[in-house]
Amino acid sequence: MWQAARATLDANWEHDHTVPSRTLYPHQWSWDSAFIAIGWAHVRPERAWSELSSLFDAQWRDGRVPHIVFNPAAPGGAYFPGPVFWASTEVEGTPPVATSGLVQPPVHALAAWHAYERAPSPQARDALRRLYPRLVAQQRYLRVHRDVGGAGLAAVVHPWESGLDNSPAWDDPLAAVPAEASIMRAYRRADIVHAAAAHRPTDLDYARYVAVVTAYRAAGYRDEGLADRHPFLVECPLFNAAMGVAEHALARIAAEVDADPGPHREHAARITAAVVDRLYDPVAGTFRPRDLRTGRLTPARTVLGLAPLILPDLPPRQVEAVLVEATSARFGLAERMDRPLPSHDRTSADFEPLRYWRGPSWMNVDWLVRRGLLAHGQDRLAAGLRASMIGLAETAGCHEYFHPETGAGLGSAGFGWTAALLLDVLAD
Ligand code: SER
Repeated sequence: MWQAARATLDANWEHDHTVPSRTLYPHQWSWDSAFIAIGWAHVRPERAWSELSSLFDAQWRDGRVPHIVFNPAAPGGAYFPGPVFWASTEVEGTPPVATSGLVQPPVHALAAWHAYERAPSPQARDALRRLYPRLVAQQRYLRVHRDVGGAGLAAVVHPWESGLDNSPAWDDPLAAVPAEASIMRAYRRADIVHAAAAHRPTDLDYARYVAVVTAYRAAGYRDEGLADRHPFLVECPLFNAAMGVAEHALARIAAEVDADPGPHREHAARITAAVVDRLYDPVAGTFRPRDLRTGRLTPARTVLGLAPLILPDLPPRQVEAVLVEATSARFGLAERMDRPLPSHDRTSADFEPLRYWRGPSWMNVDWLVRRGLLAHGQDRLAAGLRASMIGLAETAGCHEYFHPETGAGLGSAGFGWTAALLLDVLAD
């Protein structure tokens, strides 16, 4: 399994970064690169640092790290929406390379710290030192420009920013975005050429994704005034938990590169308090996204609700609630798991075992939840989840995602973060 995972990473390596998939995602993706760097640290540490530094070379002047960095050598039409659609190079303060204008969950400081811990060396410390100010700027962007709700959390302005594109968590806020599936006739979706349409978001989802990007792009991807004009504004528990954990990781990195960890600890405490205050639903006993356009928590119980467990200072009451939710019939976490961890409540009527983030099991979410379990001393549950992760790859290979009942491989084969995180749990 180690060799197969390593071969997948090698096959996806592209001069200074790793493509998530040779077919479906032929460019560089932000949170993919973070998870992939953790895997490279085990086998070719210099590639872990190249992975992160090539991504941060595309950082915008305002500090945002784009969710896609386009490879100019990839054929046009290989991915939709491509560089022409985003038109990033027409915007001031952007790098010469074409990128998207959105971000993704900020798991990069966490990944950099894990990569360093797994393969410490003087070269790795130098790389960490160079990355540190860029990670700090990434956090500042989210903390300052994206605090649309004014409570110390970052808002995502598009479902793609959450990383869980078509999660049922976004159904309500997206339903308010006016769009017709028929507008997709004007475009050519490349994803459904490479993966089964039943495994992917629908045309109506894509019509809304396009509408939300179009609104943001029309405003030059500026964040001032978002509250008054933008059609999709949500505070996501996973995104904000990642932002909090990033500050804990930055505190460790700061200590290693002779910077001051103090401000990072303060930010981490504030973000954790805000996640609990704004996104915990005491009636349901889980975390839910807050729709800033209605002020309400969104109703679906998805795996996003488990993500705040990665915050090491999450208060005991919320830790207990997340453990109850995770071990319930909805998610089935156990010391011996009979089925994979799903991305959506498997008891819910809109659970879809094939369709992307509406049910299937994903290795990166498993990895985050497992880190959270370990952070809170839940070693036996963490071992159960680790065994489940290894079992998935053993049965289906390094697929993009997995059927949450049978474990069959879904989406793309040869997927980067599945391979990388498999290496990490095998090594652990
Ligand atoms: N995840 C999106 C896609 O499927 C883009 O970030 O293309």
